[in-house]
This record gives sequence, structure tokens and C-alpha cells, in this order.
Amino acid sequence: MQDRPLSGQVALVTGAGTGIGHATALALAELGATVALHYFQNASGAQAGVEQIRAEGGCAEMFAADLTDPTAATGLVDRVVAEFGRLDMLVNNAGNPLQRTPLEQCPLEVWRAAFDINVTSAFLVTQRAIPHLRKTRGRIVNNLSLSVQTGGAGGAGPYAAAKGALQVFTRTLSRELAPDVRVNAVMPGVIETRHHEVFSTPERMADYRRQTPLGRNGQAHEAAAAIAFLCGPGSSFMTGSLLDISGGRFLR
Ligand SMILES: NC(=O)c1ccc[n+]([C@@H]2O[C@H](COP(=O)([O-])OP(=O)(O)OC[C@H]3O[C@@H](n4cnc5c(N)ncnc54)[C@H](OP(=O)(O)O)[C@@H]3O)[C@@H](O)[C@H]2O)c1
Repeated sequence: MQDRPLSGQVALVTGAGTGIGHATALALAELGATVALHYFQNASGAQAGVEQIRAEGGCAEMFAADLTDPTAATGLVDRVVAEFGRLDMLVNNAGNPLQRTPLEQCPLEVWRAAFDINVTSAFLVTQRAIPHLRKTRGRIVNNLSLSVQTGGAGGAGPYAAAKGALQVFTRTLSRELAPDVRVNAVMPGVIETRHHEVFSTPERMADYRRQTPLGRNGQAHEAAAAIAFLCGPGSSFMTGSLLDISGGRFLR
């Protein structure tokens, strides 16, 4: 059992049809967790994750929800607990820059939408999950962004502001839920996922590589490994912390 420390435990990962969330679902399943893979539009990605986990002898199910809809967000937690009977880990991973807009020109609806998907969704899911997580001495991991330290580059201001709010949410919640539930966050640098296929040009990606002391951008499994660590027993004395997964971007 030493290599499957999460056996008998249930994890909900939001945005698990793609990218970092998908890799996190697989990483938690490898550690023995039963995984609820949440998705919004990418059913095929979530389905592939469920099939892979089951093929490797694990247990997984997929759940659709638009997390900008409060009823759907809270209903997601209810459905997962109804299916699996408990909840031990919540990974608030779903998030989206939506569009690049300098703050000076940012329409109110874009600002509000950035907060809806990047922080209010996590608030709604987390609030509903807390009673279940208290019972299991659970863990929450929130997925932030390098931009909480640097500010949003190239028109990512609304996204960065929302992720900054998620950082303070993490810290506050870690105080409020201690000692029952540990609450931590990761701060990925540039991870090569659909996020950048949509929002970054090849030139911008090359620039990011040049700015990174490790000389490359990250992969989804590398961010997932840090999230899995914060879910697992190896991080048992950590709460309220922020793990930097940026290839050393802050060394420059
Ligand atoms: N890649 C990076 O360099 C990087 C760096 C720092 C932080 N992050 C953060 O990492 C997280 C995952 O991003 P990623 O890089 O893996 O990119 P991604 O593949 O684009 O993932 C975004 C996820 O958010 C979900 N999502 C979007 N709108 C939603 C909505 N209305 N309701 C529910 N879910 C919704 C998507 O679900 P569907 O696909 O099913 O629609 C998708 O799974 C995000 O929070 C992002 O901000 C990424």
C-alpha cells in the first residue's frame, strides 16, 4: 500500500478533460484515489481519462458542469458524493483567461466573466465540499498562475486579478479550515497545454522559454505531480502554501 497512499479516498478534479486537470486526475489515480473527472465541454477528454484509469485497475467517473452556473457548481459536489459516498480531495483547476484585454479597455462583462470562471467557481464548489472534506480530514488544492506574482502580461489582467483573488481565498481558507482540512495552491509558470495553443503565439512561447532558467516550458504532468504531492501524505505539514512550478522564473 506504500505506493498507493490514496487508496480508499475520493478526489474531485475540475477541468479534468484537458491539460493540467487531466494529468492530475491520472496522477491521483496512480496513487490509488478514486477520481471524479469534471469537464465542461471536453467530454471526449474526460472519457479518455476515465477509460485509462479503469484500464489500469482504478476507479473513475466523469461529471459535466458549467462552473459559472452556481446551481451546476454546487450540484457537481452533490453528484460526486452521491456516487462515491465521500470526498477527500478537491482540486480547483478549471480556469480560463477568456481573452487578452488591456485593463484600460476591459469591458465589465469580460472582467466579471474572468472572476466567474477563475475564482467564483472555486468558491462555490469549495463551499459545498467543506462539510464532506471536514469529515475526511481532506485537502484542497487551488490552481493559480505565475501572474499572481508578475501581474498579467499581454492583456491577461482580468485573469491575473481573479487568480490573485484565488490566492487570498486559499490563504484565508487555510486558516478557517485548520486543522481539519489542508488548503494549498500551485503557481504554474508556462505549461504547454491548450491554454497556450489558444492564448499564446509561437513567438510568445519562445520568449517564455528564453525567460526560464531551466530553458524550456513545462508539461502538464509536471504541474500534476506538484498538485498530487499537495494532496498526498508527503505534504502533511503544509497548509496555506503556494508551490512555484515555473522552471525558476523568479530566479531572474
Ligand atoms: N498552462 C499554463 O501555462 C497555466 C499556467 C498557470 C495556470 N494555469 C491554470 O491551469 C488550469 C488548467 O489550465 P490548462 O493549462 O490545463 O488549460 P486548459 O486545457 O485550457 O484547461 C482549462 C480547463 O478549464 C475548464 N473550463 C473552462 N471554462 C469552464 C466552465 N465555464 N466551467 C467549467 N470548466 C471550465 C475546461 O473544461 P473543458 O475543456 O471541459 O471545457 C478545461 O478543462 C487553469 O486554471 C489555468 O488558469 C495554466
